[in-house]
Order: sequence, then structure tokens, then C-alpha cells
Amino acid sequence: MASAVRLGIIGVGNMGSHHVRSIDRIRRCRLTAVCDVVPSKMAWIEGPEKFEDSAALIRSGLVDAVLIATPHYDHTTIGIDALDNGLHVLTEKPISVHKADCERLIAAHLRHPELRFAAMFNQRTDPHYQRIRHVVKSGELGELQRVSWIITDWFRSEAYYASGGWRATWAGEGGGVLLNQCPHNLDLLQWICGTPCRVYARCSFGKYHNIEVEDEVTAVLEFPNGATGVFVTSTGEAPGTNRLEIVGDRGKLVYEGGDIVFDRTEVSVSHFRETTPHAFPTVPTWKCQIPASGCGGQHAEILQNFVDAILDGERLIAPAEEGIHSVEIANAMLLSAWKNEAVRLPLDGAEYEEALKGRIRGSTFRKPESRQAVVDMESSF
Ligand SMILES: NC(=O)c1ccc[n+]([C@@H]2O[C@H](COP(=O)([O-])OP(=O)(O)OC[C@H]3O[C@@H](n4cnc5c(N)ncnc54)[C@H](O)[C@@H]3O)[C@@H](O)[C@H]2O)c1
Repeated sequence: MASAVRLGIIGVGNMGSHHVRSIDRIRRCRLTAVCDVVPSKMAWIEGPEKFEDSAALIRSGLVDAVLIATPHYDHTTIGIDALDNGLHVLTEKPISVHKADCERLIAAHLRHPELRFAAMFNQRTDPHYQRIRHVVKSGELGELQRVSWIITDWFRSEAYYASGGWRATWAGEGGGVLLNQCPHNLDLLQWICGTPCRVYARCSFGKYHNIEVEDEVTAVLEFPNGATGVFVTSTGEAPGTNRLEIVGDRGKLVYEGGDIVFDRTEVSVSHFRETTPHAFPTVPTWKCQIPASGCGGQHAEILQNFVDAILDGERLIAPAEEGIHSVEIANAMLLSAWKNEAVRLPLDGAEYEEALKGRIRGSTFRKPESRQAVVDMESSF
């Protein structure tokens, strides 16, 4: 067993350069190669070999693993190439733009199950979401009845959307807030509550920005046990909200403003409802403040976990296979908005791919001149 993982980072824009800078904090990991199709993006990096073509980096013999931080569509093609050439892969979110591409990427891993394949779902390291998940998965909250997530604090400016030619177009990014910002929230939603079986969504396309993709979404969800949900997001409102409310048979959990409050009922609500002789009763509850602080190790923790998984077989925090769920939910929301009807999951991946290709073919949108944007990566955590 090697004593360190030789890592290549592909795509050194905003996120990739953040990963490059964090390498010194990752134990048993050496950055031996970087790649970007725009050579000037790599000018500041000293030490690792530089490539302008991911295929050359992948075949260089210089790396054991790659971290892919390119625009979304390339996650699939570069990921498949890396896996088929014997490299471990950590890909940025979303793992692919649409479900059919997720399946192609996952199929490549199935051909090489000995390789580690992870996704950069860094918000899974946040202790708040870990605690919430524990309360739900342990049964403390009882059977899921309702979930509501208003996650509208993803405000983005015109300068942000103009900063990269690929951003906010069907051909370049494959979607808007659902594909760029919300993969984190949709992943957490399914990680905590499971995957919905039916989605109805109203999406607004370019409502607040000069873009062709969605920048506001309101979706109604149904879960297999009959539980319902609402998911609301926007990159156009300020100040935004991040409020996650989950209701189960043993009470209500609310996460907002950094606090997790669990109003825990003394007894099962369904049992109380069925057995109380009173017509207008109050269900006795205890107010519990669930302790959690900080935001966890975020990107560095996911990368360290990936290295430890390669060297020691440690369990992955975010196996990339699980990334198909957030993509499928996002795809279902867009398809529902396009058809103006509810969409059942599992989604028909071929139908969605065709619908997306139709958007690309039918696009008459021309992006305004690219502008240099000041991008603060910390704010996107
Ligand atoms: N996990 C997070 O918190 C987080 C935050 C921001 C962005 N991201 C993700 O990171 C990825 C990149 O986003 P970004 O904001 O850094 O974009 P960006 O445009 O700033 O950077 C992308 C870089 O990839 C390069 N590139 C494009 N095609 C390439 C190819 N085929 N091979 C090599 N390099 C290529 C571009 O030249 C550019 O430098 C996206 O998947 C995005 O969703 C994740």
C-alpha cells in the first residue's frame, strides 16, 4: 500500500483553486498534477505538472486519483475516462447534469468497483445536518409527515452569472439554481428524509437575472409513505432564508439561524389523536435545543476522507453513487415545470435527456460579454 495518494486536480477555476490551496492541510496527499483548458488559470501554481488536456493528465502515470472541478457536463466524460484508466475519482457536485449521464458514470464505477468514487457533498460534514439526520434516522422524530425547506439564501448577482461562459445556460451548465447551488440541499434532503416519489414544481427562468435557466423554484413533493414536502429556492432574493422544518409523529424539528429546535411530543401524535377524549386538546411537548456548532470540515474533510478511503478503506462520507438522487430530483422539478404536470420518480432518464437536448437546440439566448466577477468561495459553503 502506497504511503500517500498522488492527486491530480482537473479544472482550477474558483472551486478547483480552492482545492489546490487546501492540499497542505490534507494528510498523506500530494498534488502531483493540475489541468485546465485555460493555461493562465494554472500560472500561480508551483510544483505539480501542468496539463491542458484531462486525457493527458489521466494517462500521465503521475496520479492515483483525480478531483474533478470543471463545469458540470465534463464531470461525466472526465469521470468515466479516469475510472476506465484505473484512477480513483472525487467529483464536484452535481455528479452529472442529468440522470442518464449519472447512470453512465456510475456504470463506469461498476466496471471498476475496486476504485474509490466520491462526490464533493461538503455540507454532509456540517454537524447541524448530521444531528438532524440522526434525529430522523434513529426514529426519534417518528414517522415522517411533512418537510419544508425554504433555502433562498443563494443570492447571486448579474456579475456572477456573467463570470463564466458556461454558467446559467442549458448547453453549458444544464440548469440554474437546481444544478449549481441546490445539489447540496437536494442531497441533504434525500440523505435525511429519503427520496420523494412524486414532484410538482413551478420554476421561473431568468426571472431575476439575464439568464435562460431557472433562478426561482417552488416545488411540492410526495414521499412513498404519504408524507408531503415543499422545497423553495431562489438566487434572486435578499435577505434569503434557510429554514428546514421536519414534522414527524413525535414532533417538529426546525433548523434556522444556526439553531436546531426539536419540539418533542411526550407521546406519539397519532396515538394521542386517536385516544384522547378531548375535542380541542394540546399535545404535551418538550422543547429540546439540539447542540451543534461550527460547519464541520467541509471540502477539506471530504477530500481527507477520500484519501483515507483509498489508503485505509475508510467508509466514504459521500459515495458518488448517491449523487444520482439529487440530480434526479432536480431533473424531475425542471421536467415538471416544462410539462406543467406532476412527475413520478423514478424519473425516465431518457425522456429528461431528450427534453434537455430540446432546450439546448431551441436556445436563442446569447450571453452578454463575460465580466470578471469577485467570487468569494466561502460564501458558497
Ligand atoms: N462544493 C462546492 O461548495 C462548490 C462551490 C462552487 C463550485 N462547485 C462546483 O465546482 C465546479 C466548478 O465550478 P467553478 O465555480 O470553479 O467554475 P469555474 O468556471 O470558476 O472553473 C471551472 C474551471 O474548469 C476549467 N475547465 C473547463 N473545462 C475543462 C476541461 N474539460 N478540462 C479541464 N479544465 C476545464 C475552466 O477553464 C475553469 O478554470 C462545478 O461543478 C461547480 O458546481 C462546487
